[in-house]
Amino acid sequence: MGKKELKPCQQPLTGVIEVPGDKSISHRAVILGSLATGTTKVRNFLDGEDCMRTVTIFQSLGVKIEKDEKTLLIHGKGVKALTEPKAPLYFGNSGTTARLMIGVLAGLPLFTTVYGDPSLTKRPMDRVVTPTRQMGANFDGRENSSYLPLAIRGGGLTGISYQLPVKSAQVKSAVLLAGILADGMTEVVEQAETRNHTENMLQAFGANVNKDENSIIVKGKQELLATDIYVPGDISSAAFFFAAAAIVPGSNLTLKNVGLNETRTGIIDVLQIMGVPITIANQQIIGGEKIGDITISKANLTSATIEGDLVPKLIDEIPIIALLATQAEGTTIIRDAAELRVKETDRIAAVVDVLTTLGANIEATDDGMIIHGKTPLTGGYVRAYDDHRIAMMIAIASRITSESVFLDDEASIAISYPNFFADLEKAQQE
Ligand code: S3P
Repeated sequence: MGKKELKPCQQPLTGVIEVPGDKSISHRAVILGSLATGTTKVRNFLDGEDCMRTVTIFQSLGVKIEKDEKTLLIHGKGVKALTEPKAPLYFGNSGTTARLMIGVLAGLPLFTTVYGDPSLTKRPMDRVVTPTRQMGANFDGRENSSYLPLAIRGGGLTGISYQLPVKSAQVKSAVLLAGILADGMTEVVEQAETRNHTENMLQAFGANVNKDENSIIVKGKQELLATDIYVPGDISSAAFFFAAAAIVPGSNLTLKNVGLNETRTGIIDVLQIMGVPITIANQQIIGGEKIGDITISKANLTSATIEGDLVPKLIDEIPIIALLATQAEGTTIIRDAAELRVKETDRIAAVVDVLTTLGANIEATDDGMIIHGKTPLTGGYVRAYDDHRIAMMIAIASRITSESVFLDDEASIAISYPNFFADLEKAQQE
């Protein structure tokens, strides 16, 4: 314990930061570019560990992918050119790689074995195995193939109509990806809108996708055609800087080119409810995704209630929202967020553990947490549970603690934001 000392630093956050590319969109660009015919150029690709897992996997399936800094060139030759890998495919820590690739591998006439790191090995995979099995894929694995490692014999799928039992974009995407490789039509019906990057990007690759209220229908056996993708800045990474600017006195920070897809902007709604001054400038649409520059300044925060259909729009931002709530007057309630229990770690337990150690008044519930603000934060020894979003939340908390915070391990941050500490230092330069 105590490997990285984070010294409190109340230097205001000012100037302009450009956060790295969106993780969800980067994964999808690699997947669709690899299934397509022709060369797909991906600009502002997030070369964090998770998205690089997806790249390596397609290279193992025979796709030529070149990377030059943040630009990828994916030389797709279509689905039929993909080859059976000789070695097991490794998903690392990446839930998105696992869920989306299980959908793809279910649809390909190949035998594959897949596995992940200890965290991913505990996360449920039955949510994607069940629908793709119904479509005709064959799986073998522990507990009726509910967990990694899995053996997959894919191909020969038939489309289905599937009602999502969880509010999960990963599950929706797995079924849609299997659906474009299947015979016939595949429909996915959602209980609440989750991030829609897969269906948007399928259209950018020329696929026929029908969207209607809460249902998405794709035609099977469609050929995807290469296209160029610009990956907007990741709002889930920007969220850590939104929060830092909202709690450190004197801050006024601009985040440039942040993705503003309406299925992802729940954090902006919550900041506004909490009383944070936000302006959005230079809004434009690039490749079907809205982007803009967001400026945030320090606020006297008030509490919020976060529940229902808002939750999928900010699911990855809940750890940092919990930190904001410790600095807000009143009681913040977060509910309908039981999915947090099956993220990279149990994020309800992890957030409550970390913030309690730092002096917050926070309690866990089955499906969320209750935070009584406002409380000053002290220093202490905390664990990030090998979870990138917990580690970054801790680093932002340390801006306003009275003593140093000792973080057990910051390595996980490279999953989604390799330059996080450099950007934090840049924002707090005198
Ligand atoms: C993601 C969807 C979310 C999110 C994850 C990325 C995606 O998971 O937590 O970080 O790219 O589809 P669920 O859809 O399973 O909630």
